Amino acid sequence: MSAATGAGVQWDARQGVRHDAGAGARRVLERCDELAAVSALAHGIERVHLSPEHACANALAAGWVRECGARTWTDQAGNLWGRLEGREPGLPALVLGSHLDTVTDAGRYDGVLGVLSAVEVARRLAPRAGELPFALELVAFSDEEGTRFSTALTGSSAVAGTWDEAWWERRDRDGVTVRRAAEEFGLDPSRIGEAARAPQDLVGYLELHIEQGPLLEAAGRPLGVVTSVAGARRFAGRVVGEARHAGGTPYPARRDALVGAAEVVLAVERLAVQRGGIATVGRLQAHPGGVNVVPGLVEFSLDVRAERDEDRDALVAAVEEHARGVCAERRLGFELTEVHRAAGVGCDADLTASVVAGIAATGDADPLRTWSRAGHDAMAVAAVTPVAMLFVRCEGGVSHAPAEAVTAADVAAGLDALEAAVLDVAARRA
Ligand code: GLV
Ligand code: MN
Ligand code: MN
Repeated sequence: MSAATGAGVQWDARQGVRHDAGAGARRVLERCDELAAVSALAHGIERVHLSPEHACANALAAGWVRECGARTWTDQAGNLWGRLEGREPGLPALVLGSHLDTVTDAGRYDGVLGVLSAVEVARRLAPRAGELPFALELVAFSDEEGTRFSTALTGSSAVAGTWDEAWWERRDRDGVTVRRAAEEFGLDPSRIGEAARAPQDLVGYLELHIEQGPLLEAAGRPLGVVTSVAGARRFAGRVVGEARHAGGTPYPARRDALVGAAEVVLAVERLAVQRGGIATVGRLQAHPGGVNVVPGLVEFSLDVRAERDEDRDALVAAVEEHARGVCAERRLGFELTEVHRAAGVGCDADLTASVVAGIAATGDADPLRTWSRAGHDAMAVAAVTPVAMLFVRCEGGVSHAPAEAVTAADVAAGLDALEAAVLDVAARRA
């Protein structure tokens, strides 16, 4: 933990733990509940990129950000921002945030907890923001999950200046392109470059996120430090056979795409376990989908991760080779098209030291360290500024499901740690 004096101000991570943390955590959790109601589903949560729910969530969060006295704006990628100036106007910014978009039938804390914790920490620090040696910015990224257009991290990639022009032509399930959705949202695709931030305008990025795994719970700790974030690769796959009469077609004549796809799915799990990686088929659709028709086509998704990108890529190659063999034996076609690739990133040593100091200020002097199996906006942001992350324990390690749960006590600890981490960054730069 560091303490330093700058412009007559003493910054010390330990100063962070002095609030009625219970009230802050309650406010954060109530706001998570309010955002959970902003959903495209009548029963359950779904808030996807460039949807009416995205606009509504941004508007709600913008109100909370403005309550802190921050200036707000939405950038050309649909990300919501807030800014409190530091001890002089125009200083580079330390950015706190996460994302507000969700998977389908989501929990209420993935991403949202990080955004609302950032807002709460800004609320606490606002009275002294004018003494900080940096501006404090808040961000709610627009598209971490990739639920709608099958490519993830587009909001944070735009901020990092790594927007891919090919993304404009990506289509959702209704055939709507990113370009059209952006225009309907009120954005101007020709100005996407304006969302990019310059490295010299940034101090770094801190993201609080629920763990989405069981390690903290097993260790009996509310908070943990993220050492690196694994980069996922995602694919759209097709197994191509021939649709035929389910009664009249003898087995030797069948080219059943679903039976072939089933063998591929089993191999995906087996190979991932054998190689210590993680691979998931999360979506699978048989066509034409008749009860009395041999499936002629299966479309499926494939998501592959590992701690090291080389191991992930080797797992992809093994899955592809095996799947081609299985399909060839069954006289089926096999196609695999990459739709998303993110490189794994290491968290910055100095910023991570501030996160450790932040957690230490809550009483855990030697926090648990882990790599993140889940993807985060921090991965994309790392292309433009140093990043660090802290995890908050979630019940049963459950995420991407309605059962996601956190305790108020853990959220309170997360708020204290995030605030103390910001103060530690200030101390190091003072
Ligand atoms: C994001 O939640 C991911 O890891 O897929
Ligand atoms: Mn997620
Ligand atoms: Mn997330």
